[in-house]
Amino acid sequence: MQGPVNCMLKLAELLCISGVTVTVLNTDHIYRTLLRHTDVLSRFSRYPNFRFQTISDGLPDDHPRSGERFLEVFEGMRTVMEPAFKEMMISGCFSSRSDSPVTVIIPDGSFSFAFDVARQIQIGLIYFETVSPCALWTYFCLPKLIAAGEVPFDGNELDVLIKNVPGMEPFLRRRDLPSFCRLNDVANPVAEIILKEAQYVPRAHGVILNTFHPLDASILVHMRTLCPDIYCIGPIHSLFKSRFTCESKLTTTNSKVSNSLWEENTSYLSWLDTQVTRSVVYVSIGSMATMTVNQLFEFWHGLVNSGKPFLWVQRPGSVIGDYDDDQVPKRLVDETRKRGFITTWVPQEAVLAHSAIGGFLTHSGWNSTLESIMEGVPMICWPQNVDQQVNSRFVSEVWNIGVDIKDTCDRVIVEKAVKDVIDVRRNEFTESIRMLAELGCQSVAKDGSSSMDFNRLIKSITLF
Ligand code: UDX
Repeated sequence: MQGPVNCMLKLAELLCISGVTVTVLNTDHIYRTLLRHTDVLSRFSRYPNFRFQTISDGLPDDHPRSGERFLEVFEGMRTVMEPAFKEMMISGCFSSRSDSPVTVIIPDGSFSFAFDVARQIQIGLIYFETVSPCALWTYFCLPKLIAAGEVPFDGNELDVLIKNVPGMEPFLRRRDLPSFCRLNDVANPVAEIILKEAQYVPRAHGVILNTFHPLDASILVHMRTLCPDIYCIGPIHSLFKSRFTCESKLTTTNSKVSNSLWEENTSYLSWLDTQVTRSVVYVSIGSMATMTVNQLFEFWHGLVNSGKPFLWVQRPGSVIGDYDDDQVPKRLVDETRKRGFITTWVPQEAVLAHSAIGGFLTHSGWNSTLESIMEGVPMICWPQNVDQQVNSRFVSEVWNIGVDIKDTCDRVIVEKAVKDVIDVRRNEFTESIRMLAELGCQSVAKDGSSSMDFNRLIKSITLF
């Protein structure tokens, strides 16, 4: 997943410039992919206090690790990665017997197995939750939801309100919970991982969140009842930019830092430069989400029928099923030539910052959501799993910065959503999102809340 990789590498670099000695432990596969598409190795080689280490994810190199075979990743994690990690920590290269023993682990929230290791060897453990706080809070409430019979539920009455997520009672519907809460998806191994996450994360020494206080204040109040030591250091991509601009002498290349798992394509730029300000819809469903061929055509018709220009990222592997070029209606081809640009992976932060972008049709991954907020771009949300369903509800109902079309994929709905975001409700959304962006900027500034929390995090790490 690109989102968590971005977060972890940015945190690592922020810790490095603050003088902390950092090891990034990544799977062999992700590490090799990063080396292929980025300059991470030379970028991090500037830090004498940094090292990369890798671990096997238990899958052969040519395994796709995505699409229909994505779930096999969890089996590899359980049978190969988890025992290898324990060995590294207890007696191997990170142990007290090694030259540079690890004193604090900062795992992704989904690695609950880190908890037992940290406790056994008595070192610090601070989880980094790269998903949204609003979704994390629903994860924490899952045991209560299951006990109360609110989860799982069947796919029929999805508009029923959920009662057992404190703070979200007025607006959280069944359809806004992660998809594994639905009966037809309940055997999904992600559910098991998230239930463990809900059990272990609150017991760690602390939790890092990729948010800023004003954005999630109403949720943080509840979260603190379970996790007293929370560090809100987000949006981490903005804190990163702010720290590198203000404090580091290494500014020359860092405005263009890339941690991309795909080759970045910039051929869109000359097209985008010719478009009218705030007129273009940017379409991307992140690094893991997929769509069927039928859904692809519904989106395509909706975008063309809206009459608005669009820039569409079609990640390799993001469409399930095949179609021939001659299946594409001539009208779609002609209209796309006139008003559209279809591309592969792009540098998304730069795209969202471009003055021609007026809306973002997104899968509501947390990083995409934060990047859109910080660039003041209202969203059309088409979420699929994990935190995305909750995020899109917050975008539409709580923050009023876009529309949520979840559980639908229909050309008429897509067309209306595009027109709403680009024209009809543009001022309303833009006003709310600019306010949030302003608060986000203040939070990552020198004395802002995210900066202060980051400084507090460094102090806590140093104490360990
Ligand atoms: C996954 C989950 O899907 C998401 O729900 C969770 O919040 C984080 O982990 P992912 O699919 O990677 O996320 O989405 P997201 O969190 O939005 O991150 C995508 C990242 O890829 C963003 O930082 C975005 O800037 C980047 N991106 C996306 C590109 O650089 N280029 C692209 O073309 C598309």
